Amino acid sequence: FLSLPCPPDPCCFALLWWQNAGGWVRSVRSQKEVLFLHINDGSSLENLQVVADPSLEKRDLTFGSAVEVQGKLVKSPHKMQNMELQAETIHVVGPCDIWSFPLKMKERHPLEYVRQFPHLRCRNNTLGSLLRIRSEATAGIHSFFQDNGYVHIHTPIITSNDCEGAGELFQIETSSEAKESAEKTHFFNVPAFLTVSGQLHLEVMAGAFTHVFTFGPTFRAENSQSRRHLAEFYMVEAELSFTESLQDIMQVMEDLFKTVTSTVLSKCPRDVELFHKYIAPAQKVILFSSSCRISYSEAVEILKQAPQTFVFKPEWGCDLQTEHEKYLVKHCGEVPVFVVNYPYDLKPFYMRDNEDGPQHTVAAVDLLVPGVGELCGGSLREERLPFLESRLRRLGLIDAYQWYLDLRKFGSVPHGGFGMGFERYLQYILGVDNIKDVIPFPRFSHSCLL
Ligand code: 4AD
Ligand code: MG
Repeated sequence: FLSLPCPPDPCCFALLWWQNAGGWVRSVRSQKEVLFLHINDGSSLENLQVVADPSLEKRDLTFGSAVEVQGKLVKSPHKMQNMELQAETIHVVGPCDIWSFPLKMKERHPLEYVRQFPHLRCRNNTLGSLLRIRSEATAGIHSFFQDNGYVHIHTPIITSNDCEGAGELFQIETSSEAKESAEKTHFFNVPAFLTVSGQLHLEVMAGAFTHVFTFGPTFRAENSQSRRHLAEFYMVEAELSFTESLQDIMQVMEDLFKTVTSTVLSKCPRDVELFHKYIAPAQKVILFSSSCRISYSEAVEILKQAPQTFVFKPEWGCDLQTEHEKYLVKHCGEVPVFVVNYPYDLKPFYMRDNEDGPQHTVAAVDLLVPGVGELCGGSLREERLPFLESRLRRLGLIDAYQWYLDLRKFGSVPHGGFGMGFERYLQYILGVDNIKDVIPFPRFSHSCLL
């Protein structure tokens, strides 16, 4: 309970302590001699037990109502809790119409059910725990990078480039532009989009600060109803200068994962336990005690020799599908799998040419994890001007990316980086099946509630 200051000394627990506590009622149990309330203020999964004289009961003191209780905080005689509040006064600040309130007392509502009420589901234990974990993981990500000497950069949300070149952009239009569609003048003079990745802006900054990171919302107009895609999701991205090996990038991915996961486990053990007990009982938190590394070409061979048939036949040069990722993770023993060196023609323009052949590849890496599939995507970047210039020219992008070529003219260094999908990270460590249940307000095709 945030509103409860800790007594100055644990020995004082046995003493009476005057206290005001505000929260939302989770349960009301009225007996002849005593009235029990459980209230919760969102600071933890734990409810505060309020013990009161039945004369304090009011008609609008119901499940879901907001209350302020004044009383004495005493050591609880019950094993399950440290303290309880002996109420002197109970004030119902905001009543709750329990008949139309979609959440019901002491019910474990399925995640699909509460998803219909994005404005109320945070009052549910599961979403409460999730959002506290999300908050601690966010702080853990910032600490990890700051402690390791990275500079945090606010990369823009509005941009004129399509970093991934996958054509999944949301174009920005002002409301007056939308009305006067005949007269196509742009607010920014050029077409502008919601960012799909902060990478190109981070590359600019890695050219001055060496190690940089960003952690913000990214947007993809993916018309997919899958359980691991959102139209708006948060991405953690890092960029490292003076880096010539993919191994360095993979090491940062692994260190980030391990550090943030141990922070989450130590800061919110009860919240994590709720997921592992009730939502995904089979889920083991894998702290990367082991992982596997294979090349894309090896992955395709493994898939071709698989005893099962796939909907998409595995062929060198084709993208790995969800079913392929799943099989590769299983084949490697249900551990995280790094897949490196993807076909040149499959990947965006910025990836570094491996100059191999006849199966031409780039220095790319994807990290696949059990139950989720792709968690991180990264690469070494093409820092050599002639290589980049000829690739951009072939793609017809040379004019748009003059500024990017400048970075290769003025003090270019070998560099690389990666992005990790924050929601997929939460899905993985908590064993949550659907990505819509690990973000406060999910946005996906045909749905933008609130
Ligand atoms: O693999 P992606 O597309 O990589 C990039 O955008 C790079 N520019 C990042 C970089 O190198 N700085 O996306 C990175 C990660 C994916 O591995 C996945 O976890 C997540 O972002 N992701 C999504 N998460 C939820 N919904 C979507 N629609 C996602 N698309 C990608
Ligand atoms: Mg990717």
